[in-house]
Amino acid sequence: MSLFRTKPVTQEIDSGLRRCLTATDLTLLGIGAIIGAGIFVLTGVAAATKAGPAITLSYIVAGFACAFTALAYAELASTVGGCGSAYGYSYAGFGEIIAWLIGWDLILEYGLATPTVAIGWSGYANNALVAMGVHLPPLLLAAPGAGGLINLPAALIIAVLGTLLAIGVHMSARFNAAMVAIKLIAIAVFIGVAMFNVNPANWHPYMPFGWEGVMGGAALIFFAYIGFDAVSTAAEEAVRPQRDLPIGILVSLAVCTVIYIVVSGLLTGIVPYTTLNVSSPVADALLNLGHRTAAGLIAAGAIAGLTTVMLVLYYGLTRIFLAMARDGLLPPVFSKVNPVTKTPLRIILVSGVFMALVAGLLPIGTVAELVNIGTLAAFALVCGGVIYMRYSHPDLPRPFRTPFSPVIPVLGIIFCSYLMYSLPLVTWQRFFIWMALGLVVYFAYSRSHSVLAKQH
Ligand code: ALA
Repeated sequence: MSLFRTKPVTQEIDSGLRRCLTATDLTLLGIGAIIGAGIFVLTGVAAATKAGPAITLSYIVAGFACAFTALAYAELASTVGGCGSAYGYSYAGFGEIIAWLIGWDLILEYGLATPTVAIGWSGYANNALVAMGVHLPPLLLAAPGAGGLINLPAALIIAVLGTLLAIGVHMSARFNAAMVAIKLIAIAVFIGVAMFNVNPANWHPYMPFGWEGVMGGAALIFFAYIGFDAVSTAAEEAVRPQRDLPIGILVSLAVCTVIYIVVSGLLTGIVPYTTLNVSSPVADALLNLGHRTAAGLIAAGAIAGLTTVMLVLYYGLTRIFLAMARDGLLPPVFSKVNPVTKTPLRIILVSGVFMALVAGLLPIGTVAELVNIGTLAAFALVCGGVIYMRYSHPDLPRPFRTPFSPVIPVLGIIFCSYLMYSLPLVTWQRFFIWMALGLVVYFAYSRSHSVLAKQH
């Protein structure tokens, strides 16, 4: 039984999920997953403590890493098809153990990103409630380690989103589209107001923390780009996956990159970067300039934005989980799709309970960098996958081809590795512990229960 047994490439499978997502839905899913805590919260922290006004450069550097990777994702999504995103591609390309590690890594990415964003959401939602005269007891607003009993809004929003995902993916996509519209309007309002309030003096000094600060900033705000990869988890629900997944991935990333560069440039132009280390920097900056209504709109946009990020990442987690359970690497009880709702109900329930507990009870406000390292590792592997599969499966039909391969995928690997290198040591330590745990689970359970192993 080889460690590196690979799955044959299956371009279409019938999984019991409903094929109902169009190219527009997929693009909106991408924008839904991308624009959230990164731009609305982390930009302020990164500008104030790492990059200064050069946060715009940080966005450009991280944007390049993502653009190269998105081209690789687009090729594999159109070529390998099938399920489970980078997990599925690795299974066909590199073999089971690498696929398992990537799947395990993606569970970390999506499983922690959702509660992290839920905690940010809880802060914004509480501000909105206070503005409406509703005061929740402080004990219900923070986890035990952070001075409270439970972060109730953070746990509740995950429960609500789980219910929505259980009802059906079509309904979820419509909800997502409405919320994406609200957040894009909020961003347009910010740009419209901010562009008339720029004081160029705020851009000096431009690089107060040097190039190292720019890279540290890029490694942190990389979080803002996470989510375009979630589009590729929708392969089994896309009407025309081979054409529409590349469109969804590339268009959503392009739109968001432009928005990020413009917003971060304006944000550091309207107030001194030193004032941005707060939990709602974009709304606060407008408030400081006296634009109360616009600041309220931004807060509403942030709440909508963080909601869609959680929705799509939670969705992505369930689809990767489903793919791994169907392959026998996770217990088969999770491999069933409910015939009525056509959604994986058990996975939605179990992962929802887990994430609600994490969001409600753990003080995990600072794990964004752990999510980043996991995602960057998956991205580097996807770039490597393009190069390897051109060699191992040269004749596969490739409806979308990464241009200038292998140059673009190699650049993707270099950019992702450099960003990983810029992350703190403690992040690396936590990442290694998680991956080591993954190896233990693989050898204790998954390797012997793998469907592929039983076929050999
Ligand atoms: N990109 C997502 C966000 O910024 C994860 O919230």
